[in-house]
Amino acid sequence: MESHAYLKELFSLEGLVAVVTGGSSGIGRGIAGALARAGASVVVVARGEAALADTVGALTDEGGRAAWVSADLGDRDGVRAAAEGAVAAFGEPDILVNCAGINLRPPMDELGEEVWDTTMAVNLTAPFLLGQRFGPGMAERGYGRIIHITSQQAHRAFVRSGAYGVSKGALESLARSQAEAWSSSGVTCNTLVPGFVPTPLNARLCAEPGRLEELAARTLTGRNGLPEDFAGAAVFLAGRGSSYVTGQALFVDGGFSVH
Ligand SMILES: NC(=O)c1ccc[n+]([C@@H]2O[C@H](COP(=O)([O-])OP(=O)(O)OC[C@H]3O[C@@H](n4cnc5c(N)ncnc54)[C@H](OP(=O)(O)O)[C@@H]3O)[C@@H](O)[C@H]2O)c1
Repeated sequence: MESHAYLKELFSLEGLVAVVTGGSSGIGRGIAGALARAGASVVVVARGEAALADTVGALTDEGGRAAWVSADLGDRDGVRAAAEGAVAAFGEPDILVNCAGINLRPPMDELGEEVWDTTMAVNLTAPFLLGQRFGPGMAERGYGRIIHITSQQAHRAFVRSGAYGVSKGALESLARSQAEAWSSSGVTCNTLVPGFVPTPLNARLCAEPGRLEELAARTLTGRNGLPEDFAGAAVFLAGRGSSYVTGQALFVDGGFSVH
């Protein structure tokens, strides 16, 4: 078999439909682009319409198939509307990437119920509800890939982890619960664990003098992450080649977690 055909068999996403929450910015936009370039039809979900339209414009300009849905994933009705809007674009998804996330970082003593509830709603409840909506259908069809984006803060405290770290720890547990439920039907559920990636999510931290350099020095590669660093891992976990990988956390962090 020639190498191109072999690579296609392992990694091509042609004919598959992906939903990427948080696909309009940062890591999610990097992943949405990677899945589209690998052949998937991609629906990006977030609130801000301008960034969504810009993302989809960039993907279609490259020849990809993409659509967007604006929805607030912090609200359960918003999650349900997002799911139905996504299905209306290209049909039931084969791949679900839960990348939308917020990190509000109040000091622990000042962490109130509102920040707790909002953080859990966006970072944990939305991925759970989308999994409940799409997971059983994937299992019935015999193919599915659920990929959650967690954080090193699922594993250790880092700059006021507060509610955020808790939500990400639980998200890794959710991946294992989903893997237990659906892997035998062809649906794998894994997490990608970023290290530090300068994005709008951590703009305040990035603005602190010397912070970026200090964080880069804590990796083994000597630099902070970029959204495109997640492309290969996302395509791998979304495709047929990863069918025996499930319930796992794959660190894409330049060695941050082992240094
Ligand atoms: N950057 C890092 O260093 C880092 C490290 C570890 C983990 N992560 C995780 O990686 C993921 C992506 O982070 P990022 O750094 O790429 O952040 P980002 O650039 O701020 O992107 C966040 C995305 O989530 C969407 N989003 C936020 N709240 C939403 C809501 N209520 N409803 C719908 N969409 C919402 C945003 O769009 P709208 O605001 O328009 O809704 C945006 O598309 C997050 O889960 C984050 O926790 C990031």
